[in-house]
Amino acid sequence: MAKLAINGGSKVIDSPLGKEWPLFGDTERRNLNEVLESGVWWRGGENPETSKVFQFENAFAKFQNAKYGVACTNGTQAIELALKALGIKPGDEVICPAATFVATATACILVNAIPIIVDVDPGNYQISPAAVEAAVGPRTVGIIPVHYGGYPADMAAINAIAEKNDLFVIEDSAHAHGSIWNDQGCGSIGDIGTFSTQMGKALTAGEGGICLTTDEEIADKLFSFHHIGRFRDRPFYEHHLVASNLRMTEWQAAVLLGGMERLEEQANTRDANAKYLEAGLREIDGVSPIERDDWVTRWNFYFYHFKFNSEQFGGISRAQFVSALAAEGLGCGSGHLSPIQKNPLFTERQWGPACFGDNDAPDYAAVETPECQRIHDEEGCSLTHRLFLGDTSDMDLMLEAIAKVRDNVDEIE
Ligand SMILES: Cc1ncc(COP(=O)(O)O)c(C=O)c1O
Repeated sequence: MAKLAINGGSKVIDSPLGKEWPLFGDTERRNLNEVLESGVWWRGGENPETSKVFQFENAFAKFQNAKYGVACTNGTQAIELALKALGIKPGDEVICPAATFVATATACILVNAIPIIVDVDPGNYQISPAAVEAAVGPRTVGIIPVHYGGYPADMAAINAIAEKNDLFVIEDSAHAHGSIWNDQGCGSIGDIGTFSTQMGKALTAGEGGICLTTDEEIADKLFSFHHIGRFRDRPFYEHHLVASNLRMTEWQAAVLLGGMERLEEQANTRDANAKYLEAGLREIDGVSPIERDDWVTRWNFYFYHFKFNSEQFGGISRAQFVSALAAEGLGCGSGHLSPIQKNPLFTERQWGPACFGDNDAPDYAAVETPECQRIHDEEGCSLTHRLFLGDTSDMDLMLEAIAKVRDNVDEIE
């Protein structure tokens, strides 16, 4: 008789694990009502006592160990804002990893810079410092490491390369709210850290973003570039820079302040549950955790990734593994997005109005990032963060489901 649920057996997990997402409570209700009744629905009041955006900027910057925060519309425009504040010019090259969401690189094109896409480290799936070093050229002005899946990238190595070559560092921390590198919050280690608070993220208001920095001059530029070129201490209708309106609304900040009350505890819960899962994964042939580097003080994640090895897992493919696991009640992603440079926008050179000049951009169709490709095709498995918000009994169920598929792998054709 079949044991695996995919063949008609009973499933291991028959009720939802972790918590629903998004979560909200009384603070969000109270804050939203306060904004409604205040009559000031945008940050424009600039009154630290009453502006929820101002309060969120300060609270989140402090939480991640940065000095200043400038909240904005979303995580894509946060990167654009960061690039503008750091003085990006048309044709400048910025090094980005292949394993990320496409916005890391498209934000560069949107300010007429050229993303140079490099491979990832097969150990931790983060941007490879060796690949970054090899990609630095005469037109390189910066590096955008991504704390992919919220796992802290190798910031010591990245910052060293940046220092040696006089480059800026923007940490794309869209997945890394609450992640800590070497006792320092992600997003506060480079020149600027950018975050997304889009719906699925570990801190969310449906949409939104924020830039963090500890440099006052950069903070002023971020503020001006997100506020139609205004300067803080100058008359309202005096504009100094060509800039858009990228302001966050008070509604978003009202919700984010509520989320922040839970963030520390959630980050610790996810990290502790992930460590528990890792110990169990090591006991099952054919799957393994990312072995944490010394610099990982806390891994809070948007999604958690682990490794699948077909040869050691009875020869089935990662796709077969994921389907069998889904039948057991554990939804598991196939790990990584494909290398971003394989998107049609790159391979078909659809730059839109970007003016850096078609000839200056690499032939992205020919840019190979074999580690990222292999991880995407065969190895990477991912689990969403909300599954890790319960207790270790949920981790036991996940491990039971994975072990059951392994033990009965012969049932899979
Ligand atoms: C790594 C990364 N960077 C940037 C972004 C862009 O954020 P947003 O969707 O808020 O524009 C995302 C969104 O998922 C992301 O995953």
